[in-house]
Amino acid sequence: MRTLVCRTDPRKPSAKAVDAAADAIMNGRLVVFPTETVYGIGANAFDEDACRKIYEVKGRASDNPLIVHVQNVDDALKLGRISKEHVAVLEHIWPGPLTVIVKSRGILPGTVTAGLRSVAIRCPEGKFIQELLKRTGLPIAAPSANISAKPSSTKGEHAIGYFKGKVDVIIDGGESYYGIESTIFDLRSLRILRPGAFTPEQIEKAFGKRPILGKLAEGTASAGHVISPGTKYKHYSPETPLFVYAGDMKDMRSMLETFGSKAAFIGSTESCSLLKGTGLRLLSLGPSDNAQERVHRLFDKLIELDSFGVDFGVIEAFPAKGLGYAAMNRLRKASSHRSFSNIKQLQELLEQV
Ligand code: TXA
Ligand code: MG
Repeated sequence: MRTLVCRTDPRKPSAKAVDAAADAIMNGRLVVFPTETVYGIGANAFDEDACRKIYEVKGRASDNPLIVHVQNVDDALKLGRISKEHVAVLEHIWPGPLTVIVKSRGILPGTVTAGLRSVAIRCPEGKFIQELLKRTGLPIAAPSANISAKPSSTKGEHAIGYFKGKVDVIIDGGESYYGIESTIFDLRSLRILRPGAFTPEQIEKAFGKRPILGKLAEGTASAGHVISPGTKYKHYSPETPLFVYAGDMKDMRSMLETFGSKAAFIGSTESCSLLKGTGLRLLSLGPSDNAQERVHRLFDKLIELDSFGVDFGVIEAFPAKGLGYAAMNRLRKASSHRSFSNIKQLQELLEQV
């Protein structure tokens, strides 16, 4: 398939890019586009055949439902049932990176909701997707733009790498603002099913109640867990074996230096500086006092890790608060729950790969 790749500034989308994307969506075709969180691969949510193609192209299991993107709260109310009290909160915080799970009105095809009685609705802030929603007047079903199990795209070049030749249009809008997916919040139980760019602290402030966090939000729920269908599948994984380091950074150099160019380290600028001269491949996420910047680069560095051909990678743990809470969820999954805090544990992990 010939893919039209269109570059645009995501803060000031060109008419050409919006037209090309809207034309494809209205004609049952797939478009990869930037949002403020990560790139999405979208189709008209009312078009069952187009939505089925999303699953095919991503290699996504058919029981893993899609998020439906809408322009505003009124459009959300056409698709799902939301209490007056929650409508008032959503009016306040949308558009933004919070997806809510609500009872479905049953008007969307079963392909989108994977046959569930609930639906995931998100009103994104990204200027491009807002324009696209306005232009088409349609709800747009869109999961993250990655091949299943791989890290999400946070740059146009990631999306092009995954989907050129497989979708009709790719809108390259440069780097995503957050670089991590939206938070998935079940409004029926006030439980976070997937932490993301809207932090637990922000939810508490907006809803006046502390959200329920648990094994799902942590990313430690067992594979059979089905409250959020997506959580039972492999996620965010580079090809290179990845281990999370949760110990003191001052011990890192002596543990890793013998591996030299056979290993890579992903961490803050300060932590990378401690490893200079070891021959290790160093991937800096940004300053340790700027969690937003480090989270923003996380998927990019996980994708870059695979370009080195190293035997394994080590990534420094994030402090588990604010955006770091969501980052740790992704890291637990990306590393297949392999973490260490001393050399003995690292050796045990290496014996298993
Ligand atoms: O930031 C984002 O959320 C991006 C952009 C493109 O909007 N989208 C995204 O979609 O990350 P996706 O499909 O990669 O993740 C959506 C998650 C999946 O794990 C899915 O299982 C869950 O939402 N989900 C969808 N509908 C659900 C439902 N009715 N109940 C529980 N979980 C649901
Ligand atoms: Mg995804």
